[in-house]
Amino acid sequence: MTKITKLDDIVSLCKRRGFIFQSSEIYGGLASCYDYGPLGVELKNNVKKAWWKNVVQMRDDVVGLDCSILMHPLVWKASGHADQFVDLVAECKKCNIRTRVDHLKEKIAETEPRPLGSGGTQEHTEHIAIDAAIAKAQDLSGKICPNCGTVGQFTDPMPFRLMFETQMGANVDDSMLMYLRPETAQGIFVNFRNVLDTTRVKIPFGIAQIGKSFRNEVTTKAFIFRTREFEQAELEFFCEPGTDEKWYEHWKEQRFNWYLNLGIKKENLKFRVHEADELAHYAKACVDVEYKFPFGSGDWQELEGIANRTDFDLRQHQRGMRTLNKWFENDGNLNNIKLAEEAEDYQSGPLSYFDDEQRKRYIPYVIEPSAGIDRSTLAFLVDAYDEEEVRGETRNLLRFHHALAPIKVGIFPLVKKEGMPEVAQNIYNDLKKYFNCFYDEKGAVGRRYRRQDEAGTPFCVTVDGQTMQDNTVTVRERDSMEQVRISTDQLHNHLREKLEL
Ligand code: GAP
Repeated sequence: MTKITKLDDIVSLCKRRGFIFQSSEIYGGLASCYDYGPLGVELKNNVKKAWWKNVVQMRDDVVGLDCSILMHPLVWKASGHADQFVDLVAECKKCNIRTRVDHLKEKIAETEPRPLGSGGTQEHTEHIAIDAAIAKAQDLSGKICPNCGTVGQFTDPMPFRLMFETQMGANVDDSMLMYLRPETAQGIFVNFRNVLDTTRVKIPFGIAQIGKSFRNEVTTKAFIFRTREFEQAELEFFCEPGTDEKWYEHWKEQRFNWYLNLGIKKENLKFRVHEADELAHYAKACVDVEYKFPFGSGDWQELEGIANRTDFDLRQHQRGMRTLNKWFENDGNLNNIKLAEEAEDYQSGPLSYFDDEQRKRYIPYVIEPSAGIDRSTLAFLVDAYDEEEVRGETRNLLRFHHALAPIKVGIFPLVKKEGMPEVAQNIYNDLKKYFNCFYDEKGAVGRRYRRQDEAGTPFCVTVDGQTMQDNTVTVRERDSMEQVRISTDQLHNHLREKLEL
């Protein structure tokens, strides 16, 4: 029977086996920042590769981009982030710790079971209308401080800016206030024209990007689930207005199946549709793909959001482009300027699209599937983790999908003598050209199998006494632990077939 995984088990395995470390650990660690170790970087790269292959390479209607993290400050004015990308926080008057208002729990909620079907907390409050959010902020008198446990002793809710600021340029006079991007999406919107002008894409088409984003989150959470520096995989899919609902359904299905096809158990995955009062003001519809993470009592939490962003962003950037002169006149200070009004003929503006079959020009609508790479990596780790009893011993293993496994094949000589290491080394040198392999000759072979089980390695190849006589090796499969004998000249084909790579 599959064990119910606790986050502590995952954190401990990640540390022990070099998947994920606390950042700057030798200096006591930096809160909410993590480093991926030798196995972790392979796993995370495989998650990114699987996304890129599925969303970009296997399709004829999506191209990729890799944009800079630092962008012109007006990008963030136009996108709304400079003014609106905030969390609403309240400070506990007793311990002075600030908490996101939407994360505060009622005191009684601790003892009562959560109502069935209740969704997870809203992950992000992107572009909230600050005034409306403050007006809507509930009565906090029954809320409990998650830090000190005091009930109902909060300041009035206040907005807290989530973008990290930095300076560009060495000279005081001409240095410019910049922001670390809080999402990768805007790099795509501002390159929409470049992609149109340099490729043969025709609507409907998408532009995809994977990259780092930064948010000065008020509350970070649960290992790599919510951090201040993280990686996103985002697709902006441009389509003709009126076809947007069809594409929204298409991407919902595509993205949900991506997780299932990479081994996430169906019972741990669901959609959560955003209610009308929860939608960002630019969004016509939004749904989260949620995973049942093992935090606390087990909680459904957002893995990815799929939104119908309408024509909002391209229209906003047309306004941003019209604001450029004002920005120069104002010495590059964003605070004192308002975004220019939209042109009356905005439908034929610089970010419009000309459909030559229909002979018409319009601003496309956008469907955006936006996934967190670190968060999906955590979900893949949690879902793959298992413990089972084997001959009176506990076997910890990661039942990763083959495409995600950091190491595909472990190669061992049974003993460190009788020519076995040399033969095993030759096999290793050959196979590592095709798969990520690991050679190990230290300790009892049973121990070496267990180490690879814990790393999630799907196959182990062992060279033994019989190999020296008939050129066959054993191939052991991680999940079933079954072993078969394969001739060394068939080994590469056998593994390629089994791994389906
Ligand atoms: N462009 C839309 C956008 O950025 P979002 O829901 O704020 O939407 C998309 O972010 C995804 O990025 C989330 O579903 C989540 O997986 C990931 N994400 C957001 N904030 C994060 C954080 N602080 N730490 C880790 N992942 C985060």
